Amino acid sequence: MRTGRSGPKCLRLGVDRLLNKGGIVNRTAILGTGAAVPKKVITNKDLESIVETSDEWIATRTGIKSRHIAEDGETTSTLATEAARRALEMAGVKPEELDMIVVGTTSPDMIMPNTGALVQKNLGASKAFAFDVYAACSGFVYALTIADKFIKESPGKKALAIGSELLSSITDWQDRNTCVLFGDAAGAVLLSGSSDGDRGILSTHLNSDGCLWELLYIPGGGCIYPPSAEMAEKRDYCIRMHGNEVFKHAVRSMADVAREAISANDLKPDDVDLFIPHQANIRIMNAVAERLKISPDRVYMNIERYGNTSSASIPVALDEANRSGRLKPGDLVLLDAFGG
Ligand code: UT7
Repeated sequence: MRTGRSGPKCLRLGVDRLLNKGGIVNRTAILGTGAAVPKKVITNKDLESIVETSDEWIATRTGIKSRHIAEDGETTSTLATEAARRALEMAGVKPEELDMIVVGTTSPDMIMPNTGALVQKNLGASKAFAFDVYAACSGFVYALTIADKFIKESPGKKALAIGSELLSSITDWQDRNTCVLFGDAAGAVLLSGSSDGDRGILSTHLNSDGCLWELLYIPGGGCIYPPSAEMAEKRDYCIRMHGNEVFKHAVRSMADVAREAISANDLKPDDVDLFIPHQANIRIMNAVAERLKISPDRVYMNIERYGNTSSASIPVALDEANRSGRLKPGDLVLLDAFGG
């Protein structure tokens, strides 16, 4: 996608001049971004007293130094609501103007109703319809894709695409292979149509491979293995992961889909001004950037402070880059995620 000319305070995305050859075409613009994290911070040092690990191991293997973890009263929907309010405020849009709310999450407040409906209630977005997308760490990119299609169909409408997670609620705090990785956060973008020149979401590209499901999954809580005392005791409602295997597939598939997006728009990796990958591991991000030949100064990383926040990681990073002025008018931004 391309940022607008109005400056980083108001990230506007509209039309790609390369694709439209002079014609006015409505594309989806991001009118505002927002993010929210819990107040409580847990450092690697803190984790040393919970599992057998070290600050040195976590920092060198993952790039993570600390993460935000929710306390009482903070939930996936409250964080999502806070992030949404900030995105709405930046865009100067009222909740009553919203038509659609889509939340990417794997850690909803509850199975039913969906988190989007709770955000709708919290915001007072009375005319919006709301739903969740269940695509793990890729959840925000899926939500953005769906919202983009909706806005292209009805450019006058307004949609919120959100990624929000309380991964701490589905983390096995006795498993050092996973508990050092995750954090809680939410990020949101406010979208509407724009026919404004050379800016906007240029294209979106999604792929799945269900054959790999056993590499990263949550065994319990679904219809195969419903909640029970045994499930709770074994902590089978928590994330299980074969980290090494996930690592290899992540590097390969993130590089492949990024190439697909770049070539679909007749662009080159050199054209990318800011690459915002899913913040799962600093080594994964570096390996993907190296494969794409995108220099480190063009890769946005904040994993050090947040850990892996799943579907929230990209919109949180996008909001930071936007508010800090790292995004400049006319920048070409590449978002890239993978997950369970
Ligand atoms: O968001 C999408 C989902 N997740 C991911 O993207 C994660 C992808 N995978 C990874 O990021 C990495 O595979 C990990 C960070 C999870 C693990 O790093 P690794 O370099 O692949 O380590 P490893 O699993 O090969 O383990 C190396 C050693 C093992 O010890 P031995 O068998 O060599 O004696 C582990 O038991 O490190 C040990 N280890 C730890 N040591 C200290 C594993 N976790 C820890 C820990 N602290 N927290």
